[in-house]
Amino acid sequence: MQKLIVTCALPYANGSLHIGHILEQIQADIWVRFHKMQSHECYFICASDTHGTPIMLKAQHFGISPEQLIKNVHKEHLDDLSAFSISFDNYYNTHSEESKLLVYQIYNKLKDNNKIYSKIINQLYDEEKGMFLPDRFIKGTCPKCKSVDQYGDNCEICGTTYSPMDLIDPYSTISGSKPVVKESEHYFFKLSECSEFLSQWLNADNRLQAETLNKMQEWLESGLQDWDISRDKPYFGFQIPDTQDKFFYVWLDAPVGYLSSLLNYCKSHNINYEDLWQDKNAKLYHFIGKDILYFHALFWPAVLNYSDNKTPESIFAHGFLTVNGQKMSKSRGTFITARSYLESGLSPTFYRYYIASKLSNKIEDIDLSLDDFMARVNSELVGKFVNIAARSSSFLSKYFDNKLAITIKDRNLLDNILSIKDTVAKYYTDREYNKSLRTIMSIVDEINLYVDNTKPWILAKDPDKLDDLHQVCTTLINAFRLISIYLKPVVPDLVASIEEFLNVKPLMWSDLDYLLCNHAIKPYSHLISRIEPKMIENMLEINKANIDATNNIAAQNNHMVEAKEQYEVIADTISIDDFSKVDLRVAKIVDAKLVVGADKLLQITLDIGNEQRNVFAGIKSAYKPEDLIGKHTIMVANLAPRKMKFGLSEGMILAASFEDKNSGIYILEPNAGAQPGMRVR
Ligand code: MSP
Ligand code: ZN
Repeated sequence: MQKLIVTCALPYANGSLHIGHILEQIQADIWVRFHKMQSHECYFICASDTHGTPIMLKAQHFGISPEQLIKNVHKEHLDDLSAFSISFDNYYNTHSEESKLLVYQIYNKLKDNNKIYSKIINQLYDEEKGMFLPDRFIKGTCPKCKSVDQYGDNCEICGTTYSPMDLIDPYSTISGSKPVVKESEHYFFKLSECSEFLSQWLNADNRLQAETLNKMQEWLESGLQDWDISRDKPYFGFQIPDTQDKFFYVWLDAPVGYLSSLLNYCKSHNINYEDLWQDKNAKLYHFIGKDILYFHALFWPAVLNYSDNKTPESIFAHGFLTVNGQKMSKSRGTFITARSYLESGLSPTFYRYYIASKLSNKIEDIDLSLDDFMARVNSELVGKFVNIAARSSSFLSKYFDNKLAITIKDRNLLDNILSIKDTVAKYYTDREYNKSLRTIMSIVDEINLYVDNTKPWILAKDPDKLDDLHQVCTTLINAFRLISIYLKPVVPDLVASIEEFLNVKPLMWSDLDYLLCNHAIKPYSHLISRIEPKMIENMLEINKANIDATNNIAAQNNHMVEAKEQYEVIADTISIDDFSKVDLRVAKIVDAKLVVGADKLLQITLDIGNEQRNVFAGIKSAYKPEDLIGKHTIMVANLAPRKMKFGLSEGMILAASFEDKNSGIYILEPNAGAQPGMRVR
């Protein structure tokens, strides 16, 4: 028997869960359920990640305490997780006594092991707001390509990374004021001294997927910097011992949340935490998204190791969810929250099945293509699988009082089904769920062929063939039961209803070892319905109407505040001469393409009458290239050309948006009749 401690990344408690989060939780949940079905001892652990500046500011914005905010969000997350049948043994939070205790323990150990020091650093400070500014709350002009409104750490236009100190005309996105440089003492973890340990740790068998291992090696080879683990007050987090105004950076205490949630679980289940955690056979596995690898594969194992703790056995990273081939987008209604999915009437079983059918152990992104989603679930899960029960149970109830035959004479089909058992198990173990499902579904095809060949509806018409009919139906119910065992990690709720129909105890992997004979099942009742196009339309509508469910829950009566804050302050007055310096032209979009490697950009060819211009525009989230071609728009024609990572941009398209762009980006279109090359004045 194995002992496993399995975790999902702790979702931030500053917003609703979306179906990308749920993807990760489904991936881990299938793995956990599979191991539990094999009677392994498995602890499935998660929590809300509750600290940091964004949570502090969001609470302020709503006029509630951070404690209240994280409590509201935690409850919402728990409800969503249980609806998707994510079977966490504990879903705790990092703002807890257990977390504080373990964070202090780990910090003190790191200090004892001489891995912590402090030094004075310079940082940008918002005097109006009275706080040091994290990089993502500073914007300014890129020092390299001079693009305006770039974040404090890197330029989304030319791709350069820099220190916020290097930004030209920096401003605080919180108050709008110009930050000043101010000194502050910060605490550092000596990551630079951990290369040798990490190199050894990373290269152990099965530690990382091949692709991630390469990436980590690169980082290691380019040299590790010490890690700043402190933040100045005001901050929502744990105070650093022996300081007045320093707090642990959220990324120090977040992974400790894995352990504190486990500790909390042990306390309430009469398990000795130390015994479990020290047990060499109890292995730690983390499921995470590709964006947080650095923290999990470098910082976290080093912190654990130098605080004399066990380190993770494996880290399983996955890619990102896209919807219809694109990043989830609020304006298109494809930023799908867990809540809106549930409200649309779609069964969580469908999403679990579809995601599993696409998940492998690679780090590729996973696309939820809504048409394919409907087609695949309807044809495979409902049409092929559930239909087996529907096709056999009516005869059993009509002719045999729902009783299965005493023995099965021809085991051919059932032996075929059992012959894939080890293959399926191996695929689950290796997180190749797409292959598990493909293998299972090809056997399901054989079962349906068996029905077509044996023709139970013909047998039923001949009184002499009743025994044959009984054999066929008993075989089919057994086939259905074996497949249900295979599918149970993926669709546990559906299989729970099947267990009831079959009148059996919860199915385990070892239940594959025998067949069900001489047993009464229950009358068949409808197990699951098909996806209707209306449900998917509903979901997109709900998302458009309700962009962020948490805002509504947390904000309660704060809609007014929200509405006011989206309007930016009108810019300084200019003269007509200033305005006429800007040469605006009507332009026709003659071509539009995606840009490989750019998250936000489209490459657009504009016709302005006597010449064509190449322009990169940050409107990928709002428009499909093919929808733009042929449209007229307005461009700034005399903007200095700008060299970008992807090529030369020769102008700018005008588009409207609120500052946070959550309500969409809309390009300008002149009235009908305007011709390319006309000047706008
Ligand atoms: N709070 C940190 C994790 C701390 S773990 C000690 C965090 N939170 S998160 O809410 O932003 O993300 C939680 C998990 O969801 C991460 O593993 C992240 O990669 C994953 N995903 C977030 N968006 C996703 C998609 N669109 N698709 C798939 N997974 C995504 O990071
Ligand atoms: Zn730049």
